[in-house]
Amino acid sequence: MFNNHLSHTSINYYEGIEELLFFINNKINSESFYIVDKKVYEIYKDSFFSKIINYSDNNSFIITDGEKSKNLVTVENILAKMLKIGIKTDAVVFGIGGGVTLDISGLVSSLYHRGISYVSVPTTLLACVDAGVGGKNGVDYIYKNSIGSYYNPSYYAVCKSFLASLDKKTLHEGLVEIIKIALLLDKKMFYEIYYYIINKYKSDDNSNEDLYLYPEWEVYYNCFVKKAISLKLKIVNKDYYGNNLRNILNLGHTYGHAYEKCSNFLITHGEAVALGILKILEISTNLEVLKNDKLYNEVTTLFQLLDLVKYKDTFDNDEIIKYLPQDKKNSSNGLNLILLKDIEKYVIKSVKI
Ligand SMILES: NC(=O)c1ccc[n+]([C@@H]2O[C@H](COP(=O)([O-])OP(=O)(O)OC[C@H]3O[C@@H](n4cnc5c(N)ncnc54)[C@H](O)[C@@H]3O)[C@@H](O)[C@H]2O)c1
Repeated sequence: MFNNHLSHTSINYYEGIEELLFFINNKINSESFYIVDKKVYEIYKDSFFSKIINYSDNNSFIITDGEKSKNLVTVENILAKMLKIGIKTDAVVFGIGGGVTLDISGLVSSLYHRGISYVSVPTTLLACVDAGVGGKNGVDYIYKNSIGSYYNPSYYAVCKSFLASLDKKTLHEGLVEIIKIALLLDKKMFYEIYYYIINKYKSDDNSNEDLYLYPEWEVYYNCFVKKAISLKLKIVNKDYYGNNLRNILNLGHTYGHAYEKCSNFLITHGEAVALGILKILEISTNLEVLKNDKLYNEVTTLFQLLDLVKYKDTFDNDEIIKYLPQDKKNSSNGLNLILLKDIEKYVIKSVKI
């Protein structure tokens, strides 16, 4: 029933788990295999997984160890299980979890029998707005995301209810990717986030404002998720394979991946990208691409209030440089970085490190 052609992803939004279950149980008439984040399984075992009609331990694989699981060994173990139980080419793989689970699930789906239908179900804010959408997947081998493929899910099922169980830190990590896309493409959204956070975390009294009556996760979902997905897709649809324009989505990520690796993945992807974005604003200022401190100060305030940059001063710059892409650091071309002149005004510049 699913068309897994690269350009066909049907994006669907569900308010609650019951609605998502209805889709899964009523629309799927073929064999399924489920790749699931362990924490998500534990939280939603009774309310969700036990109600999927064809879900069992036999046709599922649980991702247990976060980023440390994002490797070829996990991919091989999943493929081995699928082959062992004889999953057929017309079956459907479901990836249900955060960015780690979806990166693994997308890669597995693209490899099994040279490509099998894939349904992606993001359960973190970061996965909803970034990892789950755009067709890139991959695992870490020697360096971050080094082995992967482009493979779109045929169906992208974004369910609001999953965000309710995220802890504040994971929620804020997802917000970083929304802030990133806002810095690149949507000034209005940037300041909506900025003033929401300032008022929520700085102001003494926001009890009268409607927005603050809702839990934080619901505000992010209702106000920013669809917008962030559509902004990302606008870019991806123009340059799917990242030959040019799509590279702007790497804002903060070249340094971000270096921070992540340098900490041996003790800091999370979201924290690392927040540090990476600040580093880019610093470089933009030093090169006089960014001509005043306003934006740097605003983004710093935002990330500080979100408690994402507490490890900033624990990293030694010389150490970080060792983890930047090896081939580019000292070449005459320098390191290609996305710098900011202002919000919505990016430039790609080759920078000597
Ligand atoms: N492919 C892409 O385009 C792309 C884009 C951005 C990021 N990524 C990748 O995504 C990964 C980061 O994603 P992430 O931040 O979602 O990390 P993650 O998948 O490790 O999830 C973060 C934490 O949240 C937990 N979790 C997941 N859903 C939950 C829920 N509903 N309730 C409670 N806890 C839940 C997980 O168990 C984990 O502990 C990185 O590996 C990064 O490289 C990929």
